[in-house]
Parts: sequence; structure tokens; C-alpha cells
Amino acid sequence: MNTLQGKKIVLGVTGSIAAYKACTLIRLLVKAGCEVQCVITPSGKEFVTPLTLSTLTRKPCISDFFSRREGSWNSHVELGLWADAMVVAPCTASTLGKMAHGIADNMLITTYLSMKAPVFIAPAMDLDMYAHPATQDNIELLKKRGNLFIEPREGELASQLVGKGRMEEPEEIVARLQDFFYPHRRLSGKRVMITAGPTFESIDPVRFLGNHSSGKMGISLASVCVKEGAEVELIVGPVSMPLPQSPHIYVTRVTSAKDLEKACDAIFPKCDVGILCAAVADYTPAEVFDEKLKREGNELTITFKPTTDIAAKLGKTKRNDQQLVGFALETTDECAHAKDKMQRKNLDFIVLNSLRDKGAGFGVDTNKISIIQSDGTVKEFPLKAKEDVACDIINHLCEQSGFSS
Ligand code: PMT
Repeated sequence: MNTLQGKKIVLGVTGSIAAYKACTLIRLLVKAGCEVQCVITPSGKEFVTPLTLSTLTRKPCISDFFSRREGSWNSHVELGLWADAMVVAPCTASTLGKMAHGIADNMLITTYLSMKAPVFIAPAMDLDMYAHPATQDNIELLKKRGNLFIEPREGELASQLVGKGRMEEPEEIVARLQDFFYPHRRLSGKRVMITAGPTFESIDPVRFLGNHSSGKMGISLASVCVKEGAEVELIVGPVSMPLPQSPHIYVTRVTSAKDLEKACDAIFPKCDVGILCAAVADYTPAEVFDEKLKREGNELTITFKPTTDIAAKLGKTKRNDQQLVGFALETTDECAHAKDKMQRKNLDFIVLNSLRDKGAGFGVDTNKISIIQSDGTVKEFPLKAKEDVACDIINHLCEQSGFSS
């Protein structure tokens, strides 16, 4: 979903080598439908020309208080009222200091001081400058005043040193803005527990019993919940895909069904919602062999014992103010099995996906689901990207639970 269409952005550019990335940032913002007005500091002009920025934004880039040629002055007050957001990218240590202490000696700072819209700051500097207590104190002060920081990355810096100080990539900055303008935030103030991925049950030090869950469905749910304003407790089994980086996602890594059970027992009581998307082993070896099993004879018999049904256990202790959502992965008699699971486990609703549907279930980037509600009615959805499927599930959760923005 493009949430940036029609948004007015003031982009502040300061004197850092990362100023060249401002050009890509403008192109991405314009492509997303934004109107961009650049304001550049005197030292910013040493790194990228106002002409380049003006050409990309199709608006004159502002750098001075006055336009000598036209005999007019540039109104920082008007810019402060015009913008939907201000983004300072790159932001040097010097500009950070001036923003923190109100040193209004250039057009960018006067615009910042007049700004009515939220301000995003993407620092870019050498690692020692970034780590210096003066810089860190300025950042803390600006954060306390509600400015939104887009943390720099670790990496190779212009000084050829390696460390934290590289400005975040333009694509990520745009993604942060997209998230910020996400319209609903119906889960603001809510804590949501999500389980994702497979479990691995050890047989011996080398082998395990696992399944094909990649974690994609659960991780997409976590991302959508964060966009909706939730704090997310993501309990994730052994997956290889990268987890979303967000200060609103708290990750607990687990391996076996027993680990998952312990994590859910500890975390669910402090949550408003639990979404159980993990593919949990129903059986685990009765005995884990201390040594690697040797190839002997024609047959190998391993005895398995049932694991705890975590969903059923949580369903028993669930409070009235908590919602519990399960998944059902079926191959036959899908609806009947899913309804039975929903009732047995005392779930508020269950999301059914069938391995008989092409493009649904494990591993793939898409899914095709039906949501079965507690009164037995079924809502069917077409095949979609897992991120869109996650939106459908969270929409249903919000509608059913009366969560609103
Ligand atoms: O990770 P992906 O590759 O994106 O794939 C997504 C998925 C296919 C794994 C996901 O969409 C899904 O269907 N997850 C649930 C898989 C599953 O274990 O379904 P089930 O029908 O066996 O279990 C029913 C419910 O009980 C599930 O909510 C499950 O988390 C829970 N359960 C199962 C066993 C157990 N011991 N404890 C449980 O809590």
C-alpha cells in the first residue's frame, strides 16, 4: 500500500558525503507521489548542487534566507505549515547540534524550528563523531522532543573506517515514511504474541524431526501488527529468513515444541492477542539419543510421544480480555477439521490453509486462506502475497474485537 501519495515533504540536506543519496531519496519520494521541497545548508552545497536537487524535485532548492535576484525572502514559516513531514537526510553532527540547541544560522534550521509536521532525522557521520557523548546527548534531547530517528547503519564510512555512522539507505527511509503514514493504527497500545516457523525435535545430536515452515506467514503478521501500532512478541522457531528489524518487535528464538510452550506460557499472559502460526510438532521422540544413531539392521524404530497442544493449553487459561487465533494446515476435509480444532482449542477464530491449494501453505510467498469464525461462518479469500493475507487476518481480528484507531 502506497501511503505517500500526495504527501508534502521538506527534505533537509546537509554537508555530508551521503548527500549524494539525497538524489535517490528524492527520486523514490517523487515516484511514490510526494511533492518534495529541498532545503540545503551552505556546506551541503559543497557535496551536491542545488541545481541537481531542483531538477529532481521540479522546485527551486532553497538555501538562503533571501532570493537576491527576485528581492524576496524564503518563508521558513510557510514551509513549516506546508509540510506533512520533514526529513533531514543526511544529517551531520553539526546540524544535529544546531537542531538540539536552536542555533538558527541557516535556512534548514529556521525551517526546522518552524516545523509543525513530524521530523525524521537520518544521521550520517564518522563512527567516533556518532559515538561521542556530545552527539549522543543531542540525539537523546531531540528524541525526547519527539523527533524520529532513522538510525545509521554499521559499515564502511567515507573515512574508510568501519563502524556505525552510514546513513540509512534511501529505500529504507522511504519505507519508514510509508509505515509512519499507514492510516489505521488500530492495534495501538496492544501487545500481540505471534508464533512463527517450524519446531525441530531432536532425535540424536545430529538428526531432528522438523517440517517445511519457513516462518514467512508469521513474520508477515508481525510486520502488519507493527504497522497497526502494536508491540509484537515474535516467538520464532528455526528459520533462515531475516527477521524484521523494529524496536516494536521483541524476538524470542526457540527450537523445539517444549521451548515454544515455555515461551508462550511466559509471554501470553501479558498479551492482548495470541496468533499461533507456528507449525508445531505434534510428536517428539520419547528418548533423545546421546550419541549419533548408527546404521544397523534393516529397520529403525523410534518411539514418539505427544507434545503439549499449546493452543489448547492457552485456550484453557485465556482471559475474557484476550483473543486467541489459531491456524489449521489441512490436506483433507479441511473445513471440518479446522472447525473441530477451533472448538477444541477454544480459539476466537481459525485461519485455514490447505496444501491442496496451489501456492498455499509452506515455504511459498503466497497463501490462500479461509477464516472460520466462532459461529461457524466461513470467509474465503483468494490467493495473495503473504503480506496481504496478513492484512486480511489483522483486519478480521480488528473488526471482530472492536479494535479501532
Ligand atoms: O511458515 P510458512 O512457510 O509461511 O508457512 C505458513 C504455515 C503453513 C506454517 C501457516 O500458515 C500454518 O498453517 N501454520 C499452522 C500449521 C500447523 O501446525 O497447523 P495444525 O493444524 O497442525 O495446528 C493447529 C493449530 O494448533 C496451530 O495454530 C498450531 O500452531 C497449534 N498447535 C499445533 C500443535 C501443537 N503441539 N501445539 C499447537 O499449539
